[in-house]
Amino acid sequence: MVRRDLEAVREEIEALRREIRRHEWLYYVKNAPEISDFEFDQLLKRLERLEAEYPELVTPDSPTQRVGGEPSEEFAQVVHRVPMLSLDNTYEAGELRQFDARVRRMLGNEPVEYVCELKIDGLAVSLRYEAGQLVQGATRGDGRVGEDVTPNLRTVRSIPLRLLGETPPPVLEVRGEVYMEKADFQRLNAQRIENGEPPFANPRNAAAGSVRLLDPRITASRPLKLWAYGVGEHEGVTFQTHAEVLERLQEWGLPVNPHFRVCTDIEAVVRYCEEWTRRREELSYEVDGVVVKVNSLEQQARLGSTAKSPRWAISYKFPVSQAMTVVRDIQVQVGRTGVLTPRAILEPVFVDGVTVSHATLHNFDEVQRLDVRVGDTVLLQRAGGVIPQVLGVVLDKRPPDAQPFPIPSRCPSCGSEVARVPGEVAIRCVNLACPAQLRRRIEHFASRDAMDIEGLGPNRVAQLVDAGLVRDVADLYTLRQEDLIRLERMGPDSSRNLIQAIEESKTRGPARVLFGLGIPLVGTTVSQLLVQRFGSIPALMEASVDDLTEIPGIGEAVASSVVQFFSRPENREIVRRLGEYGVRLEEVARAKEERPRPLAGLTFVLTGELPHYTRAEARRLIEEAGGRVTESVSRRTDYLVVGENPGSKLQRARQLGIPILDEAGLLRLIEERAQG
Ligand code: IVH
Repeated sequence: MVRRDLEAVREEIEALRREIRRHEWLYYVKNAPEISDFEFDQLLKRLERLEAEYPELVTPDSPTQRVGGEPSEEFAQVVHRVPMLSLDNTYEAGELRQFDARVRRMLGNEPVEYVCELKIDGLAVSLRYEAGQLVQGATRGDGRVGEDVTPNLRTVRSIPLRLLGETPPPVLEVRGEVYMEKADFQRLNAQRIENGEPPFANPRNAAAGSVRLLDPRITASRPLKLWAYGVGEHEGVTFQTHAEVLERLQEWGLPVNPHFRVCTDIEAVVRYCEEWTRRREELSYEVDGVVVKVNSLEQQARLGSTAKSPRWAISYKFPVSQAMTVVRDIQVQVGRTGVLTPRAILEPVFVDGVTVSHATLHNFDEVQRLDVRVGDTVLLQRAGGVIPQVLGVVLDKRPPDAQPFPIPSRCPSCGSEVARVPGEVAIRCVNLACPAQLRRRIEHFASRDAMDIEGLGPNRVAQLVDAGLVRDVADLYTLRQEDLIRLERMGPDSSRNLIQAIEESKTRGPARVLFGLGIPLVGTTVSQLLVQRFGSIPALMEASVDDLTEIPGIGEAVASSVVQFFSRPENREIVRRLGEYGVRLEEVARAKEERPRPLAGLTFVLTGELPHYTRAEARRLIEEAGGRVTESVSRRTDYLVVGENPGSKLQRARQLGIPILDEAGLLRLIEERAQG
C-alpha cells in the first residue's frame, strides 16, 4: 500500500480523534448523543484502520487505546500528594445543625454557603492529568497511599483520556467516584450466576471489584462510570469556590453529577437531605447519603482538616432500609445454562416503599453460609435499590423443627442429576433438553437486547414449550398461525401479531442473533466484537480459540466458550436452520460490498450546512457509495462538498484548486458515475 504524506494523515487522525472525543463526551457525559452508535463505530473503525497503517502516529490518548493493555502482575503504589480524606458521618438534621454551628464559630460567625452533593456509593479514585493528558489513575487506598490502576481506569468510557479545552492546566488531579448503575449491576450479576461465578453483593462491590482487576480487558467489559466531585493537586489554575470547581470539571469534559446544589444556609441543606432521602429511588445508581461541603475554598483552608477528615465537610447518611420477615419457602429456579438458583419466598414486607415477597439467595454456598431455613425470620436489605438481599437469620426466632435446606441432587424441572463444575459455585442441570432450560433459552432469545420479539414473554414461551411446538429457538420460525390459535388465551389477533413479530425479528442482524443464542460469557458487547471481526455467524462458527483471542477485548475464557458452543452439532444445526428460515446471520455491511460503489477511490470533505442532508447523512451517503470522507482538506481531497456558512475549508480548497460541489452536484456525481 502506498503510504500517504505523513502530515496529511496526521491531520486526518487528529481531526478524527477530536470528533470521536466530542461524541464520547456527548454520549457519556452529556447523555445527549448527536450520532447513532453505528456512525460512532464507523468513526472509531476508520481511526483504527489509519492507526494500524501508520503505527507511528498512535498516541496513548487516542480513543482507540481505551481497551487493551497487558495484565499487570500487581498494582504499584501511588502516594497521594494531597491526601484523600474521608468524611465524618451524621444521621440526623440535628447533627447537621451542630456541624454548621461549629463551622460558623470557627469562622468568626461570617456567613457560610454550602454545596450539597449526592454521596455516590462506589469507589473513590484520583485521576491525574498532566498537560491535559490522563497519566495516572489510582484508588483511594488508605487515603495516603493508593493503588495504580491506570490501565483499568482508562477503559472507563466516561473518564476522558484528555481534558477538553485549548489550555489545560499543567497538573490537575480529579477526584471522583467510580460506580455501576443499578440495572447494569443486575445484568452483570445475572450473567455471573449463569456463568457459575459468585455474584457481587451490591453495585459498590461490583465497581470496586472491577476497578481492582489485574486484567484491564475484563474491566473494559464491566459497565463502569464516573462522577467527578473534586480536585486534588493542581497547578496553573485557581478556584474561588467548590461550585466553581464543579463547573470547571464539567468544562474539562468530566461528568459531574447534575444534582448538586448551592445552599445559602444550613436549613436549605437540611431540606436538600430530606428531599433526596425521598427521591433517591428515582436515580439509576445507588447513593447512600449527601455530602455537604463549605463552598468558599478560602474558608475551607481556614477550617483545615484533622488527620482523618476535613472540618469543612460532612456526610449525611440516609437511613438504611432493612426489614424483618419470615421465609415461607425456598424454591430452586433453573436458568438458561442449567444453573440452579435458590430463591426465598417471603411473607410480604414493606421495605423502602416497595413490597418485597421474594429474595434471591444467589447460590447454594450462600444458602449454607447463611444457613437459611424455611420458617426462619430473616433480616432483609434492598441492595442495588431493587433486588432484596438476605443479610442474615434471626436465630432466636428459628422454629424448633426448621431443617437445613438440602443442596439439590436433581433438577427440579426435569429430574436429571445435577453437576457441580470444579472451581464454580454454580450447580447445573446438565440435561440440554431440560424444559426449564429450554424455556429460559427461548425467553432470552426473544428478549429485548436479542431478537426483541414482542408478545413472547415467559407465559407464552411456557405454553409453546409445553405444547411441544418449540424445542429450540429455530422452531419459532416454523410456527404457523393455525398452531397458535389452538393455544389457550390466543385469539386470531394475538396469534397473527405474534407470527408477525417473529417474522420481523428475522432482520435484527447477526450480533443480536449471536447474543440470543445465549453462549456463556457472550454478552451484547462481545457479540458485536465477534460479528465485527467475522462478519457472519457461519464464519464465526469455524473460528479457533487462537483466531478469537486475537481480537482485542476477547480473552481465553470467552474464546473457549464460543468454540465449545459451536463444537456441538446440535448448536450448529440450530444456526443452519435459522439461516434456512431467513434469519439474517450476516452483516449488511459485507453484503454491501457487492453493490455498486460509484465513488470508490474518491475522498470528500464536507463543510457548511447542506439543504437536505445532515452532516452525518451526507457522510453515510458518500460512504455507502464507496467514497471516503475526511475532516480536513489536503492535496489528497478529490472534492469539497459545500453548504450554507462554509468554514475555512472552502478557502483552503480554493487555494489547492480542489473541485467544489454543492449538494445537487454531489448527487449528480453519484448518478453519473453509477451509470458509468
Ligand atoms: S468528597 C474530603 N463527594 O465518600 C472530601 N466524597 O467518606 C472527601 N463519596 O471516600 C470526598 N460521593 O468515596 C465526596 N460527592 C462526593 C462523594 C464522596 C461519594 C465518597 C468518597 C469518599 C467517601 C467519604
